[in-house]
Amino acid sequence: MIQHSALSTQHPKTTSVLALRGITRLFGSVCAAQQVDFDVHAGQFVTLLGPSGCGKTTMLRLIAGFDTPDSGTIHINGRLVAGDGAAVPPENRRVGMVFQDYALFPHLNVGENVAFGINAKRNEKMRRVQAVLAQVGLSGYENRMPYELSGGQQQRVALARALAPQPDILLLDEPFSNLDTALRTQVRAEVRHILQQTGATAIFVTHDQTEALSLSDKIAVMFDGAVAQFDAPQSVYTRPATKAIARFIGEANFVPAYANGTRAQCPLGEVTLLNPAQGAVELLIRPEMLHLHPADEGVPAIVQWSEYYGHYQRIGIHLADKTALMIRTDSQVLYKAGDTVRVRVYAPLWRY
Ligand SMILES: Nc1ncnc2c1ncn2[C@@H]1O[C@H](COP(=O)(O)OP(=O)(O)OP(=O)(O)O)[C@@H](O)[C@H]1O
Ligand SMILES: [Mg+2]
Repeated sequence: MIQHSALSTQHPKTTSVLALRGITRLFGSVCAAQQVDFDVHAGQFVTLLGPSGCGKTTMLRLIAGFDTPDSGTIHINGRLVAGDGAAVPPENRRVGMVFQDYALFPHLNVGENVAFGINAKRNEKMRRVQAVLAQVGLSGYENRMPYELSGGQQQRVALARALAPQPDILLLDEPFSNLDTALRTQVRAEVRHILQQTGATAIFVTHDQTEALSLSDKIAVMFDGAVAQFDAPQSVYTRPATKAIARFIGEANFVPAYANGTRAQCPLGEVTLLNPAQGAVELLIRPEMLHLHPADEGVPAIVQWSEYYGHYQRIGIHLADKTALMIRTDSQVLYKAGDTVRVRVYAPLWRY
């Protein structure tokens, strides 16, 4: 009986398209993956977010089968593909991959590029190419060569090529990083929409916080090969598990406070806590949670510096006790060093 319950807790849920358990990968003294556990369910869009060198590409390579974990297991749709003696080669894993550099075959036209990975008779292949090009909005582009396409169009061909064999999981490794800012925003929205339409299950890699927050169902925040938090974007942003995650996912002020249950006293007055506590704590206050008031609401502060960004401004203030805070606000009223302001926080706060 004991053996049975031990097995059932270890065995991944059958609804997981991907289940990672205890994945570890060492390169000499570098730990590129440390005891990584997570599940990806059908149709989910999961992002691996972390600084350069934290092990994001390594994780995708392990899932795709281009590399082998030192320990741990990988299940795809309930089938063991790595670990415990299994080593299913990449071509038999039903995993598609889109790389940063698109990697289209330059000597093949769009139709041939998309047809490349499809294992079917000629007519079925042609039908599938047409269908997938329609999905990415490139019907009629079959005979174009890659050099005759814009960066965004090339990226959509790369996506079509990865989707064409109907993989169980699509892996995307920083697929937008070669695009300029405006195109990047447009293409990533398009790609997200296409993936939603096709119901694809996708794992996406980025070191861009905005991209991760705006696209994902779940984010795995990675530091030094380990998943520090695996949560919905709103949870990662408003309830980060550690101060390091809080700092990585966005700008953060940390303010000392004294808690009594769900209330706390801090230099900004009395505030509400999301996670109750007793005694000395530190509050996470995002810059946009601070509101400036010209009148007599809130506590007085002096502007130390300001930076103008067009649709918003960043302002550094000092409270009377010299507590330094960074504020992000709209740019309708512009503030400058020396201005006297009043500041308040309304949102319930996360504390450490
Ligand atoms: N084949 C390899 N041999 C030795 N070390 C490797 C190998 N592949 C990766 N590493 C090391 O493992 C760590 C993780 O690398 P990885 O490429 O997974 O990082 P990443 O998160 O994708 O980074 P980036 O955002 O820069 O692409 C790095 O320290 C890297 O130098
Ligand atoms: Mg990488």
